[in-house]
Amino acid sequence: MSDPSKPDLEESVNVTEAHERVLREAAAAARENRLSENGREPVSLWVLVLCAIPVLAAGWALGNAGRLFSYKDTVKDGYVRIIPADDDAAGPPPKEALAAYMAKGQKIYGKCIGCHGPDGKGDGNAYPSLAGSAWVNGESERLAMVILNGLNGPTSTGKVFGVMPAQGAGMSGDDLATLMTYIRNSFGNKVGDVVTKQMGAAALEISNARPKVGTAVNADELNADHLKNLAGDSLDPKVMLDPITLEPAEAK
Ligand code: HEC
Repeated sequence: MSDPSKPDLEESVNVTEAHERVLREAAAAARENRLSENGREPVSLWVLVLCAIPVLAAGWALGNAGRLFSYKDTVKDGYVRIIPADDDAAGPPPKEALAAYMAKGQKIYGKCIGCHGPDGKGDGNAYPSLAGSAWVNGESERLAMVILNGLNGPTSTGKVFGVMPAQGAGMSGDDLATLMTYIRNSFGNKVGDVVTKQMGAAALEISNARPKVGTAVNADELNADHLKNLAGDSLDPKVMLDPITLEPAEAK
């Protein structure tokens, strides 16, 4: 037997051998096919080849070799889109003046809706009603001055609600005219006239020439200076207009 006081050389050889055996077995295990979960096994090359056949066939059918979807066979000779002869001034159909102005004015009313409401009735508390208002339905110059400059002090009923901020910033004569036409013929108001673009432009000039330009108007100023209608030819509310330019529609 070996002497326990000396290292056992035999045993150290065995350790090396054992180590090599472990490495060999690990390498063999690594060469084995891995087990895959159901449905996740690698696909055979043959399956891929078979799948490619219909794809290539479809390519052939769509391409020049096949007759399917051939431009020459499916589109008539000399086909062109036909544009009607009288459609060169293509655009929306003409509208009666009152309706054309109101349609545009309704969009401008978006500036007012937050205070005066979608039904124009205000809230009876902080914001007055435009429905049935004597100033909305009355002289057009007075109404224009309120809209462009805002209002401070008594309203048409004598009641003071607060201060209306000026609404004229960025407003063109057309915007003002269509807005005024809209509120004078909505919410139950039925003035029935058109505040024309020319009248809207005149209102901007009058507003810019006010002695206190940049401040809100009040009832005293309105009564003293603006108790009249805006100058300009009146427009038959039923005359046909181009709904975009608001100019008379061309006779066809
Ligand atoms: C920020 C809220 C606010 C907005 C926005 C607003 N108003 Fe006013 N409006 C008022 C208030 C408040 C009064 C009453 C002011 C007062 O008591 O002097 C008023 C008064 C009026 C009056 C007078 C009514 C009457 O019978 O005396 C008219 C007309 C009017 N507004 C039209 C408009 C129009 C048109 C717009 C949109 C371009 C508009 N307002 C936008 C708050 C507003």
